[in-house]
Parts: sequence; C-alpha cells; structure tokens
Amino acid sequence: MAIAATAKLQEQFDAGLETRADFTIDQPRERYGAVDHAVWDQLYRRQMALLDGRACEAFIEGAQRIGLNVAHVPDFDAVSERLMAATGWRIVAVPGLVPDRIFFEHLANRRFPVTWWMRRPDQLDYLQEPDCFHDLFGHVPLLADPVFADAIHAYGRAALAVEDRALPLLARLYWYTVEFGLMRDADAKPGAAQGVKIYGAGIVSSKGESLYSVESAAPNRLAFDLDRVLRTRYRIDTFQKTYFVIDSFAQLFDALGAGIAARLADPEPLIAVEPHGAGDVLASDTVYTRGTREGWLADGDV
Ligand SMILES: [Fe+2]
Repeated sequence: MAIAATAKLQEQFDAGLETRADFTIDQPRERYGAVDHAVWDQLYRRQMALLDGRACEAFIEGAQRIGLNVAHVPDFDAVSERLMAATGWRIVAVPGLVPDRIFFEHLANRRFPVTWWMRRPDQLDYLQEPDCFHDLFGHVPLLADPVFADAIHAYGRAALAVEDRALPLLARLYWYTVEFGLMRDADAKPGAAQGVKIYGAGIVSSKGESLYSVESAAPNRLAFDLDRVLRTRYRIDTFQKTYFVIDSFAQLFDALGAGIAARLADPEPLIAVEPHGAGDVLASDTVYTRGTREGWLADGDV
C-alpha cells in the first residue's frame, strides 16, 4: 500500500533503474552484493526455524514450493515459474511501495509487486518500509495456496471499484488480514498459541511479532468480522494491540471479494461512524483472548 512512497522510491529512480508505467522494473540482480545474499540467507533460516509450529502449514509448504530456500536473494523469474504452475500468479519487481490503484491493478491480474532491494544487516529486526524480504518471504508463499491466491485476486478486483474516500477502510482490512492476520488452528502447538497460527506477512517477516502475536498475553485475539475490522484503527509503529482471527482462507476469500463489494459499494455509513480504537474490545466481539494491555501506548493508533 502506498503510505509514503517517497524517499526510497526516488532514490531508486535516481539510481537509474528503468521503471515502467506500472511501476515494474527488471529485477536488477547484478546489484545484489554478498551482503544482500547473506542477509536473505540469515533471515530465511531464522524465520523458518521460528515459524515451525507457529505459522500455518500452507505458509511453510508454500515457501519451500516456490523455491525460497536458497542461500541467496531468489531470482524472481524462477519464483514466478513455480508460482505460475501452482496458482497462476507471478511476482514483478518494483522499486518500493507503489500507488494504491496500480497495486490493485497488479493484484487483479494475479501479479504481486515485490520490492527488489534488501535491508541492511543492521535492519534485520525492524524496517519501516517493505523490502524484498518482507514482500517476498512475507507475502508470496501463501500465493501458492489456491484459496488464498484467489482471495488476493478477488481483493484486487474489488478494491479497484472502491472510491478513494473509502481507501482508509480498505487499508484497515488489508492490515488486519494480509499483513497481521491469525488463523484458528486446532493443531497449534500447546502453549505456543491460543489455538491460533500466523498467516499475516507483517508477522511472518518479523522475529519479534512472530513470537508476540501467538504467545504474548498482552494483545487481544478476536474473531474476524468484516464490519468490525473496517471500523478499527491500527498500529504502524508497535506490535498490534489486537489480532483478528479467521477460521479459514475461504472466509478470507468471501471478505476480501464479495464482502468488500457489498460493504463498500456505498461506504458512507462506515465512513460516518467513529472508528474503534486499536485495543478496544466490544460487547459484540467473539473474544479468544482478552489482552492484558501490557506495554500498550495510549495514543498513536492510525
Ligand atoms: Fe506487506
């Protein structure tokens, strides 16, 4: 999502990369150095070890199936070839965040934009803007799952029809599902989770949040409800105060496609009401775990 597609993008443009009208570039593989490859290798191995038993099985399987288990920054064309065979998706290289409409257009055509550059070794644990590791490791493995792949496709198509004034609502939905979603899982490791597993890209690509989201007593874990999420503010600077838990990717498919189309055809009623705070628990919520609120900042919800 285009939150601040400014400095980094410009820096990459200035570096002389030829950027097409749809913001794609050819992955400039010659620009990766030994440090970039080492960072990928280190992050991949660290996160896969951490996610064993914590992330949903489709993610673990997908990462291996599309060939991310290589000791270097993956070749985007090679990943696309495997992904195409699995679900008809491919990845395209971009310099960084792309404008919303262009992003939706890519998704609606089963193309996932992936930032080409890698974070530096001193940024292993936190990075403000998405890099290649977040985009590729975080988002792409689940695109090898047929139902999840169709859900993101449906999201792109539905999002293209949404008016600009409703885009902040759409951002909340994307945030609480694609980026920070949890899923119910009867096989979740006892003690490691409250019967939930991780599927969100912002979680799987973060060491700290991979542990916090499923093991900490601090955050709320609430059953996913489309209207509820469309009305809920979120955090961009700290771990989430609340995680919304889906039952299945089929539920996600319904919400991200037909759900958006139905609820945002006329967004006015949802825009007109005051949004809920990121940490609120409502009487109408199905609560899996009510957070202790430990470590929460009082303000800063967006
Ligand atoms: Fe992301």
